[in-house]
Amino acid sequence: MQRLCDMLLCGINLLDLLSGACIAFYSSIQIMWCPKRRRTDSFEDEKESKMPALEPSGDEPAIKIRVGSRESKLALIQTEFVISELRKLYSEKDYQFELITMKTKGDHILDTPLSQIGSKSLFTKELEDGLLNKSIDFVVHSLKDLPTTLPPKLCVAAILERECPDDALVLKSSLKLDKPFTLIQPPSDNKSEWVAKHNIKEPIVIGTSSLRRIAQLRFYNPEVEPIDIRGNLTTRMNKLDNPDGPYSALILAYAGLKRSGYEERISHQLDSDWWYAVGQGALAIECREDDLETIRFLSPLIHCKTTFEVIAERVFMAKLEGGCSVPLGVRCSWDPPDIVNEDFGDEKRRIKLTLHGSVFSVDGTKSIKTHEEADLADEIDIDDVIEETKHFTSICLPPSNAPCYSTVRRNFINSAKIGLKLAEKFRKLGAMEILQEIRKFKSPTDKDN
Ligand SMILES: *[C@@H]1O[C@H](CO)[C@@H](O)[C@H](O)[C@H]1NC(C)=O
Ligand SMILES: *[C@@H]1O[C@H](CO)[C@@H](O)[C@H](O)[C@H]1NC(C)=O
Ligand SMILES: *[C@@H]1O[C@H](CO)[C@@H](O)[C@H](O)[C@H]1NC(C)=O
Repeated sequence: MQRLCDMLLCGINLLDLLSGACIAFYSSIQIMWCPKRRRTDSFEDEKESKMPALEPSGDEPAIKIRVGSRESKLALIQTEFVISELRKLYSEKDYQFELITMKTKGDHILDTPLSQIGSKSLFTKELEDGLLNKSIDFVVHSLKDLPTTLPPKLCVAAILERECPDDALVLKSSLKLDKPFTLIQPPSDNKSEWVAKHNIKEPIVIGTSSLRRIAQLRFYNPEVEPIDIRGNLTTRMNKLDNPDGPYSALILAYAGLKRSGYEERISHQLDSDWWYAVGQGALAIECREDDLETIRFLSPLIHCKTTFEVIAERVFMAKLEGGCSVPLGVRCSWDPPDIVNEDFGDEKRRIKLTLHGSVFSVDGTKSIKTHEEADLADEIDIDDVIEETKHFTSICLPPSNAPCYSTVRRNFINSAKIGLKLAEKFRKLGAMEILQEIRKFKSPTDKDN
């Protein structure tokens, strides 16, 4: 069976009967490659396609695209953004968008500490049901909320350009510090003076409900006290600014703050030594894996550079985590550093991606940090294809109208290999022992906006 799929991967046209078997084989091990690749290749030949794709349709009535979204303000902003990007690409005469909003389980239980809720698909389940029963065509998510293994029959069809992936520190509005980050690392020479001067309550309470942030806070400064904070962004900001409230600061995702119009509240961008969540800052569009029209419709939105980063990150997480969320942070860097999306179209161009990873114990006493890199132009062999395609973490290989299509297959594999190798390094350095301890805490997501 592997040889068979192998041939299909190379684009050799076999009987549909055989490819059906291949698809069944592959879907049972959760990969997106084989069916996507072969079938999207034949897009051009699909005469009966109900969507006119990029060609205008003349007198045909407009096709209605039903877009699913959570009801939260941030989710709606993100979904509207994707629709506006699509409107730039497609005429309103050909396509119209209908927004379908739903409350997810995660939205219903916003007051329960996230670490006590035990489901991975907390913010996606209801919308995914809508996709599966075909009442929705696609759903926009924060990639961070999407498990590395999606339910059968669903896939990530496009990942858009990443906003700044860093976390950000937001101070209580009454606090004015010259160096905001010292709130997390107060000057040790005379702490009591410093605390008194800034009218900071002790212990210094930082609001966050992400295990990754809690563990890092404890690691960098055992004196601060991370305390759970829930609710939407407005609610959290109100809790933070409440003069009688316990919080001196919050740690939130830079991208979420920016998209929600809170950019001016960012006191400090946590970069260099602070680790962000896998996929943070990127938007992902989920649809049915057999809905080739929608996949093709969405593919001009694909941002190659972001896609390669998040494949490396998600493979790393998937290989370490084994289905349970952990205080694991990442950071990507490129050589040359100023690489842009268009550079990936050049097949000869050497472009190096480095993935830096970190794992912290929840009590902040232990950490592992290391990195792995590869040139995305490296040759791949067919064994890589067979082995590595299992690890694209539900991101499907783009159809031929996607940007940088000519290099995408090789770059997918090389990005996935970076994640695999980094996970292997972490195992050798004892990451599994740290992760075993963490499983006791049971945090399902890194959802903290
Ligand atoms: C499809 O699923 C959604 C979400 O669970 C539900 O609200 C809707 O009623 C379902 N529609 C049909 C036709 O089953
Ligand atoms: C620290 O500041 C407090 C309050 O201003 C002061 O009483 C104390 O003497 C200072 N300690 C040192 C070591 O400077
Ligand atoms: C945030 O949550 C509060 C309380 O649940 C609600 O009243 C408010 O409308 C929400 N605001 C936004 C912008 O979603």
